[in-house]
Amino acid sequence: MATKQQYDELCRQIWHHNTLYYVEHAPEISDEEYDALFKKLEQMEKDHPEWISPSSPTQRVAESLTNGFKTVVHQIPMLSLANSYSKEEIEDFIKRIQKLVGKKEISFSVELKMDGIAISASFEKGCFVRGVTRGDGRQGDDITVNMRTIAALPLQLYGEDVPDFLEVRGEVFMPRSVFNELNEQKLQDGEPLWANPRNAAAGSLKLLDPQEVSKRQLSIVFYGVAEESSAKLSKQSEVAPFLRSLGLPVLDYFAHCHTIEEIWEFAEKIRGLRSSLPYDIDGIVIKLNDWKDQKRLGVTGKNPRWAIAYKFAAEQAVTRIHDITVQIGRTGILTPVAELEPVFLAGSTIARATLHNEEEVQRKDIRIGDMVTIEKGGDVIPKVVSVNFSQRPEQSHPWHMPSHCPCCGSPVVKVPGEVAVRCPNESGCFEQQIRKLIYFAGKQAMDINHMGEKVVIQLFQKGFIKHPADIYTLTEREVSQLSGFKAKSIQNLLASIEKSKDVSLERFIMALGIKYVGTGTAELLAARAGDIKALMQMNIDELMLIEGVGEKVAHAVVDYFAQDSHLREVRRLLELGILPRMRTVQTFTDHLFNGKAFVLTGSLEHYTRSAAASLIKERGGKVTDAVSKKTDFVIAGIDPGSKLEKARALNIRILNEEEFITLL
Ligand code: IVH
Repeated sequence: MATKQQYDELCRQIWHHNTLYYVEHAPEISDEEYDALFKKLEQMEKDHPEWISPSSPTQRVAESLTNGFKTVVHQIPMLSLANSYSKEEIEDFIKRIQKLVGKKEISFSVELKMDGIAISASFEKGCFVRGVTRGDGRQGDDITVNMRTIAALPLQLYGEDVPDFLEVRGEVFMPRSVFNELNEQKLQDGEPLWANPRNAAAGSLKLLDPQEVSKRQLSIVFYGVAEESSAKLSKQSEVAPFLRSLGLPVLDYFAHCHTIEEIWEFAEKIRGLRSSLPYDIDGIVIKLNDWKDQKRLGVTGKNPRWAIAYKFAAEQAVTRIHDITVQIGRTGILTPVAELEPVFLAGSTIARATLHNEEEVQRKDIRIGDMVTIEKGGDVIPKVVSVNFSQRPEQSHPWHMPSHCPCCGSPVVKVPGEVAVRCPNESGCFEQQIRKLIYFAGKQAMDINHMGEKVVIQLFQKGFIKHPADIYTLTEREVSQLSGFKAKSIQNLLASIEKSKDVSLERFIMALGIKYVGTGTAELLAARAGDIKALMQMNIDELMLIEGVGEKVAHAVVDYFAQDSHLREVRRLLELGILPRMRTVQTFTDHLFNGKAFVLTGSLEHYTRSAAASLIKERGGKVTDAVSKKTDFVIAGIDPGSKLEKARALNIRILNEEEFITLL
């Protein structure tokens, strides 16, 4: 039988191998040997559950959070950085610092600017006790359980200088390889893609189920120590070696610089390395090295005076367009797409770029055969920035949108008031039908698991589904004809279809694919109509009475239900057992918001500004533009403006989006 001492020793040993792997990048044992140690530990814990401590390597994944994240106030605010975009701006920064510090010889620690999510992590006697998001810098969400799932984060620090209390700052990120792999999976499952690894990391940290978070394979690095931690450091350049000695992962590249030329040399080196790094960075950070000097310079607003970010431009690549094809969307809109000679850009291989519409192609004079510069902005879909006209092949021609739909051959029509053209053959164009079905089964709509793009296409091509309602008449025999489907997967798919019948009204409205009706609008329509039959009978005036619903949406809803084919489809869906949950149409006279004045600042994730305003108004509240003594609540979203500061100064109750939703 093992002793407690042996157990502690085994924990220490496993953490040591973790550090060698994630921090030193120099493992001394194979994965198999590591797994064997881990299994041995699991066995000891089975025999002696009383020994298990929260910092055991086995204790990464906790139970789901049922009440969302707690808000935690940062004892030491989490600052942002001022940005600069040129060598001149960095020079100005250096001159400013020289003047403020009052000496010419100063040094800087220069490091990578990770493009992830800022977090703070606290350790008590070396044991990881709390992880918090940056939030608004003053307070953030307690995401401890989610951070525990990050393999690179040690739950226990070892070393000679482990302080009694340590709060470190850093960045959670999703490695590019994981991002590409999970996005590929999303594509196959017909789910909306993440725009970039940063969004993927942000979305993952917000999940309430740590089991799910652990599947996201997030990673972490640290670059700072919160000032009042008991670490005895005096320079920025000492931070990384210190953190590393404790087993914490740190940034990969550093430079200790004295002049603009040295800083610039480092910037150029990193710019060159950027595309081959396994994670996204968006620049470098230049920090005054001496902590005493940092303290003297202090902070302006949310930014320290002693540091600045130098941001790189978006990553670009040059390649050739070998063809321009046309994609048909679920509403029939034709979108030109550049088919590229595959090229590596910002962590993945790119073979296609959207060209938006014909006007865009002509404005940039993009032609088949052209060498073009492509760029990934904030989005996963790259765009063509410019054409290299000097390399244009001799016999190239301007590109035109086809006059007929490349799928069904119908003459295309111009969308009134827009540059787009569409295929009007809504019921006969296969491509439109497939896109509609994929959308219908997708995450934001009926959310049918296992029914991604590839499955829908097969079912359509085999003639088993044509309209959404056909999904609900699929038989075991039909599903068994899909390639790769065996007993278990057949049952899984059929069960998911059955499960999707219990659907919220707003998702059902979304699934219908009414023009201009996104998640927020569907929610507004559902809240007012209460059930689908009521919505089908509402006229334009009634619809426009809903705050947040304008003329365009009202017409789109009425036009949709005016078509016989749509009415038939909705009726069939209801007959086949889809049961959109009814909602009580509330009048809210006794709601907490009744008679209260609200101000919105920053952007909300779940609602547009007008949708949020209408939800408040429905409950008897009013929304004003400026914060004053008469304001009762300020709702602060992402990147809130000065209104938030003012609200704080006036001691007005501030709600974050989650609190707002709860109160709704
Ligand atoms: S220092 C005062 N160092 O950039 C210090 N931040 O634009 C503030 N970031 O919120 C942070 N890499 O999320 C620092 N090496 C680095 C960084 C870094 C990325 C992020 C951090 C911060 C944002 C500011």
